Amino acid sequence: MKKFYKLMEDKIKRAILEAGYKTGEVVITVSNRPDLGDYQYNGIMPMAKEYHKSPVDIANDVVSILKQEDFFKDVNVAGPGFINLRISDEALIDFANNDDYTYPKKDKLIFFDYGGANVAKSLHVGHLRSANIGEALKRLCNYLGYQTISDTHLGDFGRPLGLVILELSKRFPEWNYFNKDYDGEYEDVPITNELLENVYPYASSKAKEDETYLKEAQEMTKRLQNHEKGIYDLWLKITDVSKQSIKNIYDRLNTTFDLYKGESDAEDAVPELLSYLDKLNIIVESEGAKVIPVSLPTDKLEIPPMLLIKSDGGILYSTTELATIYLRMKEYHPDEIWYIVDKRQALHFTQVFRASEKAKLTPNTKLVFAGFGTMNGKDGKPFKTRDGGVMRLLDLLTEVKAESLNHLNENITEYRDEISEDVAISAIKYADMIPARDTDYNFDIEKFCDLEGKTGPYILYSTIRMRSLLNKAKENNISYHKINKIGSNYDREVLLILNDLDLILNRSFEAKSLNDITDYLYRLTTSYNRFYSFNHILTETDELLRESWLYLTSIVYQINMLLLDILAIKVPIKM
Ligand code: ARG
Repeated sequence: MKKFYKLMEDKIKRAILEAGYKTGEVVITVSNRPDLGDYQYNGIMPMAKEYHKSPVDIANDVVSILKQEDFFKDVNVAGPGFINLRISDEALIDFANNDDYTYPKKDKLIFFDYGGANVAKSLHVGHLRSANIGEALKRLCNYLGYQTISDTHLGDFGRPLGLVILELSKRFPEWNYFNKDYDGEYEDVPITNELLENVYPYASSKAKEDETYLKEAQEMTKRLQNHEKGIYDLWLKITDVSKQSIKNIYDRLNTTFDLYKGESDAEDAVPELLSYLDKLNIIVESEGAKVIPVSLPTDKLEIPPMLLIKSDGGILYSTTELATIYLRMKEYHPDEIWYIVDKRQALHFTQVFRASEKAKLTPNTKLVFAGFGTMNGKDGKPFKTRDGGVMRLLDLLTEVKAESLNHLNENITEYRDEISEDVAISAIKYADMIPARDTDYNFDIEKFCDLEGKTGPYILYSTIRMRSLLNKAKENNISYHKINKIGSNYDREVLLILNDLDLILNRSFEAKSLNDITDYLYRLTTSYNRFYSFNHILTETDELLRESWLYLTSIVYQINMLLLDILAIKVPIKM
């Protein structure tokens, strides 16, 4: 990928040196006075002191050198010493014609932890952003040349599973899984996802009211953790069924994982981890529990120790988390591990990361907590179903799909279901990634599904229109291989926006947030659409201009497809 800003910045740097001044890093920004230039440089003013010279004089020295470059159509000094830069049409065209839009492979492995589904519980709206943002960041990293491995880190062990198995044993005491003396083949029991989704909430609320039931559940959790025959076999069956339904939903969200490991895999490695930690002498006994103290003298708020083993011998979320790091390091040696998890889990990760550092598990690996904000309802309160429960992701998809179908053109008679599915997913994903990763936002189905405005459906519709224009050109045997000239400020504006792509992708990578990409898609698309409605591309009689416009369309189309793919949004055949 060619770097337009770097190109410009190098030119400024050279001019400053040639004019007899010193300079450090030069940063060019888009001009806030488009009437004076496309870009501006604000770095001259701070130089005045050192050279005992007015900044305008220094700027003029630099400008007189820059003026000799064909790259610029105009360079001028404004106000107290800003340099305005107007790029020549030739330079813009040359840049657009000669980019390959690819990045070289990098020798760096980033491990992705996102999704975070829980076995036997339905995926709910709280899991949506993890899947969307995680998948998109992974794809962005791949595009930028990084190697990645993704793991959904299933919540597949501990208390919730104890509750589910206990409740099943009450409802179906005859299942031979519950017979301690049984040692034959286990029967094929009718466990479905519907059953599990009914059993868990029931058991969970019952345990809150009923002390004996709670005790029984704890006992069951222990039996499971001890891999007791029958109980463990039933657990395998439950995870199988549940994983399948989790996968189905992730499929619909175009979200895929290299690994479907879970807390249970980490649980197996806990004894190994403990003996490793023991040797390091960092475990402390505290009120019968084993902990790793992680507070630092510089902390403003006291960070409590990380709990490793409870006083009853049980293990916790933090224990399996640390064991997971241990395993990932052992098996994959990643350079970085990124966690795309609800920002309210920040403390947990601070504790675990510090414990990992203390335990020297990750001496050369960067652990990154990329927390995301909450998705609220239209009223700004936590997203709820009509009867006040937590909304299942599946139900949300159904609602958004129905709304998308309402907006779908009646003339489309074929593939209505597939198309409305793609449109719905675009509506959800695009809206989900407009706010910066760590900000909360309100979910508004009607607004997100609208074909006008900053929405997924608007971007899809526009992209499909670009594609059909290119197809029409092909049908008419009109070929296009390059941009020859610029017709007006409309295509010129589109060309300028193309220059930002590399910057935007890298900024998203640094911030671990997709908001710059959703913004950019909208900026590029609206600018292209202005150009599109101002010109009659196919019927243009100046053939060089027609070719230029078609080629420009093909670049914008290609970039839209690329960015939508990074966001894991599919483009339907028509709309
Ligand atoms: N299963 C967890 C939840 O639903 C999220 C897991 C996030 N990943 C992690 N490594 N802790 O809250």
